[in-house]
This record gives sequence, structure tokens and C-alpha cells, in this order.
Amino acid sequence: MSKNIILTGDRPTGKLHIGHYVGSLKQRLLLQEKNNFAEFYIMIADTQALTDNYGTPQKIRDNIIELMLDYLSIGLDPKKITFFVQSEISALPELTTYYMNLVTLSRLLRNPTVKSEIQLRGFDNEKKGIPVGFANYPISQAADITAFKANIVPVGEDQLPMLEQTREIVKSFNTIYNTNVLVMPESIIPENKVCCRLPGTDGNAKMSKSLNNCIYLSDDKETVKNKIRSMYTDPNHIKITDPGKVEGNKVFTYLDAFCKEEDFAKYLPEYKDLDELKEHYRKGGLGDIKIKQFLNNIMEEFLEPIRERRKYYEERIPEVIDILKTGTLKAKEVANSTLNEVKDAIGINYLNDNNFIKEQIEKY
Ligand code: TRP
Repeated sequence: MSKNIILTGDRPTGKLHIGHYVGSLKQRLLLQEKNNFAEFYIMIADTQALTDNYGTPQKIRDNIIELMLDYLSIGLDPKKITFFVQSEISALPELTTYYMNLVTLSRLLRNPTVKSEIQLRGFDNEKKGIPVGFANYPISQAADITAFKANIVPVGEDQLPMLEQTREIVKSFNTIYNTNVLVMPESIIPENKVCCRLPGTDGNAKMSKSLNNCIYLSDDKETVKNKIRSMYTDPNHIKITDPGKVEGNKVFTYLDAFCKEEDFAKYLPEYKDLDELKEHYRKGGLGDIKIKQFLNNIMEEFLEPIRERRKYYEERIPEVIDILKTGTLKAKEVANSTLNEVKDAIGINYLNDNNFIKEQIEKY
């Protein structure tokens, strides 16, 4: 029986899109399929979402079940995976409190992800300032991971600095308190480099809700078709006969991420594979409409089963809530038990510590 414990999570701040899929969700499906784990936790990180959305809790509230529907619709299996809500697990902020002593303020603010988020959110503006809770979130993320003794954390590339911070905390905790209670986690990120960050349909390097350049996992057929039709390709490829550029051409980037060899036989039998298609595009004589149609077929084959599963669960919301409730109860127990071990390791579990009680009796 495998000893692997997998944990990951997402902030419930919006619908998931195909960039999330290639950047992290697909990895979870592969892990689920491999079935080489004792536990697999997926956390809805609402507490963390609050650190930069403290003024708009409604947004988070609106996206809890939305996120669950996205998870279930892509095929993450509630029989294999424990889904839970972060804010319900009170051991997490408790663990965070103990870890906070092990990290300096300057270390927190040096975290590259935190740094860029500070800029993005305008927290570096003198008037606004950096909320303590926000600056602290890498520490609370270390609590999320260690509370469950996760040794494998599948994430998107942007999360690597968070894992680094967690590893530092684990190392210093175990050293200072001379224990091995905390488990050293490893991150895993997607192998295919194209997949680490899928660009937006508008050609922007990042697919993001605020840029309005996403294809959502929950988009309907017509919407996807329109989004693909208006996608950015090569601005100099005007006539079909013009030679075209493949590098930086987002239709080809998406094909790199989604196209499988068998798609050619099914949808574009004139070509053997993606290399041949690219070659023709470079030479000239291959129109954008054709490659977009091909991409559209591939996306539909990918999205249609997702839509069907979503529909199934949309008709069974109480069941979805139940999945989350059951998972959260289990997560609470596991995290509480780690919290106890952590307090034991520090030596502050006084009232449940027989040695402490004995010592005190002998002392007086
Ligand atoms: N920071 C992650 C994100 O923004 C969400 C998250 C919170 C997480 N806690 C985690 C991911 C623990 C992995 C492990 O997507």
C-alpha cells in the first residue's frame, strides 16, 4: 500500500479555465489514475482567498460550489479524493501561529509570488499597504500542507516559491524541536512546458479572468466556437498563401497542449501529425480557418464530457455539498491530530502530557 499523501488546492475566486486544466488539473487526473496514494486531498482555499479579497467575501461564497462543480466535472472522483473547505479546519490557523515564529518578515516579502501579487493588488501603494494576513499566506500554506503530512503537492509553476517556503519551515521546525513530525513535501509540476502557462486567446502571455481571454471549462459550444474563431494567430499571415509563423501563434500553442496523434485521423486526415501541419503553415497555403476548425473539434471532444458531468452534478447539488461536508469532517480530524503532535513536539500540550503532570507534582 502506497504511503503517498497528496494535497493541493485552489482559491475559490472564479470559474476554472483550460489554462488551469493544463497547468494543474490535468496533473491531478493523472495522479488519480495512477492510484499510487494513501490519501488525496483537494482543498478549497477560501481562507487564503480572503487574504486579498477581504472586502468581497461574496465573491468567495459564490465560488465554493462552482469550484466543486469544476473539480467533479473534469472527472476528479469523490470516492478517491477528499475535498474540504479550508476555513472549517481550525487547526490550520493554529499551526500557522506556531510556524510564524520560524519565518522572518523579510523572508516573506522576498517570496517572488508574494512580491508580484503585492504589485498586482496595489498593496505597495503607500496608502493601501500590505495586509499582514496577506503577507503571511505562504506560512498558512505551509500549515495546509503539513497538517495533512502531504509528501506530494501537485501545483502550477507559480506555486514553487510557496513550496520552497514550506520546505524551509519543515526543516527548521524539525530541527528546532528535534522531531520528525513534519513531513518534507515535494512539488510536482506539469512536464510539458507549454502546459505550465497557457496564453490567453488574445495572445496575452497569461490566461486570466481579468483579461477576459479565457476558455472556461464550463463554456458552452457556441461560446467556445466564437472564442476560437476570434483567436490571435500570426498578424502577418493575411492571405492563405502567405507563409505563417507557428512560434507565438496561440492556435498552435493550444494544439501543442491539447492535440493527440489520433486527432489527425479523426479530424484532419490530410496530415500525419502536428509537425506536418506546422510545416505546411510555415510554407504557406494553410488558412487560419482550417487550423481553428481543427482546434475547435479537439476542444469540443475535450469539453463535451466535462459539460455532461457538470450537468449531472448541477442536478444534484445536495450531493455535492455532502461530498464537501464529509471530506471536511475527515480533514478536521487529520489536521487536529497533527496539531496535537506539533504541540507535543514543542512541549506545550501541558494538560494532556503525563510527563508534564508528573514533573509538576514532583517539583512542588
Ligand atoms: N496558493 C494556491 C493557489 O493560489 C492555493 C493553495 C492554498 C494551495 N493552499 C495550498 C495549493 C496548499 C497547494 C497546497 O492556487
